[in-house]
Amino acid sequence: MSTFEPGFLWGAATSSYQIEGATAEDGRGPSIWDTFAATPGKVDHGDTGDVAADHYHRYRDDVTLMKDLGLGAYRFSIAWPRIQPTGSGAVEQRGLDFYRRLVDTLLEHGIQPWPTLYHWDLPQPLEDAGGWPDRDTAQRFADYAAIVHDALADRVTHWTTLNEPWCSAFLGYATGRHAPGRQEPGNAVRAAHHLLLGHGLAAEAMPDSTVGLTLNLTHVSPATRAEPDLDAARRIDGMQNRLFLDPVLLGEYPADVQADLAGVTAFDHVLPGDLKTISAPLDFLGINYYSPMLVAGGGTPRPSAYVGSDRVTQIDGGRPRTSIGWEIDARGLLSLLIRLNRDYPAIPLYVTENGAAFDEPVHDTARIAYLEGHLRACATAVARGVPLKGYFAWSLLDNFEWSYGYAQRFGLVHVDYETQQRTLKDSARWYAGVITRQGL
Ligand code: NOJ
Repeated sequence: MSTFEPGFLWGAATSSYQIEGATAEDGRGPSIWDTFAATPGKVDHGDTGDVAADHYHRYRDDVTLMKDLGLGAYRFSIAWPRIQPTGSGAVEQRGLDFYRRLVDTLLEHGIQPWPTLYHWDLPQPLEDAGGWPDRDTAQRFADYAAIVHDALADRVTHWTTLNEPWCSAFLGYATGRHAPGRQEPGNAVRAAHHLLLGHGLAAEAMPDSTVGLTLNLTHVSPATRAEPDLDAARRIDGMQNRLFLDPVLLGEYPADVQADLAGVTAFDHVLPGDLKTISAPLDFLGINYYSPMLVAGGGTPRPSAYVGSDRVTQIDGGRPRTSIGWEIDARGLLSLLIRLNRDYPAIPLYVTENGAAFDEPVHDTARIAYLEGHLRACATAVARGVPLKGYFAWSLLDNFEWSYGYAQRFGLVHVDYETQQRTLKDSARWYAGVITRQGL
C-alpha cells in the first residue's frame, strides 16, 4: 500500500484550445492554433478545436463531474485571445467573465482553481508581429498576465505562467509540428528565451500570489556507455531539461548547451538583467512527465526538435507503448524527481500532467496500469524526501490532441464527439478511489 500525506493535492488537467470549442464566441480573437488547424495537412484528419469538447458551454456539468471524482484541484488554461482578442490593448470582458464563472463554480464545489496563463494559444496578431522569437511578445504576455491576475486574484491562489515552453519553442519554431509551424532553428532558441522572459515578467506582474512554471521534463539515458551515446544523452538532457531548468532555478544558461548551439545562435538575444528576471524565486515547479528517452549518438544528421543535436537518434527501449507510441516507464519519473531534488534548490514540486493515450472506450485497464505505476513512483519519491505536493492526471476529458487531432484519447472521461456525452471510464472511478483512500 502506498499512501500520501493528508494535504497531498489530487487533480486533473485540461487546456483551453483542447476542450473549450466556441472559438468565435464572445469576442474571442484567432489564435495560432486556429490558423494552424485550418491549414490543410497540419492536423490529422483535418481536425480543429472549433467545437472540441464544447466545454465553453458545458463547464458546469464538467465541474460536477470533477466533484463526483473528488478532485481537490482543477488545472485548466486561460485562452489569451478570449481576454485580449488581438494580443494587446483592449480587454474583452466577456472572456474574463467566462473564467470568473468557471472559477466561481469550482470554488462552490470546493475545488481549487489552478489556471495556466499560456497553454499554446498565442493570439494570431502577435505571431504576425513576429511571435515568440520577437522580444516584445514577452512584454505583451506580462501585460496580459496582469489583466487576468487583477480580475481573478481575489479567488485564485495558485497561478502557472507557461505550460511546456519547450513545445512552444521547438515544436512551434524548429520542427513546425505545432503552431505556428515555422522551421527556423535559431528563432526556436530565441523563442525559448522570450518565453522564459515572459514567465519572469509575468511573475513580477502578479505580486503576492503563488506562481509556478510547468515544464515537460524527461529522464534521458544513453544507449551504451560509448562516448557518442553519452554525448547524445548529455545533449538531449541539455535541450529538453537544463535549457529551461537552469535559467529559472540557477539563473544561468548551461555552458555546454550554449556551446552545442554555437552554430545556431550567439545568445545575443539574452540581454543584461534577463536572467535575473527569469530566476526570481519560483513558488513551485510543475512537471509534465509521460515517457523516458533512450538515445544514441553518431547518426546521420537530420533536422530535429533538438536543435544543435542533429546526429542524435532516439532508440527503442523495448518497453510497451501507449497508443500514441510513447514508451511506458514509471521509473523514468522516479529518476527525474530524485534528480530534480538533487541538482536544484528545493522547491515544492507538482506533477502537473501525467497520463496515457489508449483507445479503450470505457474499460481502460491499460490506463489504470499506467497511472498506478506512475503514482507508485510518486509515492517512492516522496518516501525518499522529494517535496512532491500533488499530482494532476492528464486529462480530465478526451480532447484535441494537437497535431494528432481527436484520434488520441487521454481522458479519464470519455467524450462522444457526436453527442458531447461524457462517460466515466474505469480509470476515472479508479482515480476517485485513490483520492478517497489517499493512496494505492
Ligand atoms: C502535454 C501538453 O501540455 C498537453 O496539451 C498534451 O495534450 C499532453 N501533454 C499529451 O500530449
